[in-house]
Amino acid sequence: MENLYNQLLQNNKNWVRSKLDQDPDYFKRLSLGQSPPILWIGCADSRVPANEIIGANPGEVFVHRNIANMVVHSDMNMLSVLDYAVNVLKVKHIIVCGHYGCGGVQAAMTNKHIGLIDNWIRHIKDVYRFHQDELNAIENETERFNRFVELNVVEQVLDLAKTSIVQTAWEGGQQVHVHGWVYGIHDGIIKDLDITIRDNNSLSEVYQLDI
Ligand code: CO
Repeated sequence: MENLYNQLLQNNKNWVRSKLDQDPDYFKRLSLGQSPPILWIGCADSRVPANEIIGANPGEVFVHRNIANMVVHSDMNMLSVLDYAVNVLKVKHIIVCGHYGCGGVQAAMTNKHIGLIDNWIRHIKDVYRFHQDELNAIENETERFNRFVELNVVEQVLDLAKTSIVQTAWEGGQQVHVHGWVYGIHDGIIKDLDITIRDNNSLSEVYQLDI
């Protein structure tokens, strides 16, 4: 265990050296500031490292991760990241990236009691309830699980569009595109769900804010 821990610090030194070998000003340039065009909202799962799977460099992606890539509108952490990304960094794209095999989504399909996390997973159970007719009709359990992962991303994309932050940006003429993706743990491929939202017209009327 101690070895792994020490190895991480050694890895860091090696990484710094290789970056400086390629570009002596690499860190000097990054220290000047950031203007990433992307906000990434992904799962905390260790197998879905945001930058690595899309070949992005430091400075290119602003990242928020939690269990099952949720957009919970009372979550101050998520709202603060979203507000800063949209209003200060002026990101052009917000990507919600779920992943097949997501443990959080799987737990939401069961009645298992785990602990405090049950209360977080309840938000995912709400997604199941919204789509229970479609999901219950899928007999194969793996297929039902996969579709649930996709529908969870769809709902989080809509939940982003419902926020005052995103709707205010749209009303002010800011171009913010909200996308939904699902990453395949088994093959590394990202599936674009093609549900990109660019304005609040596609929301149910009750969520459309007069700004
Ligand atoms: Co997950």
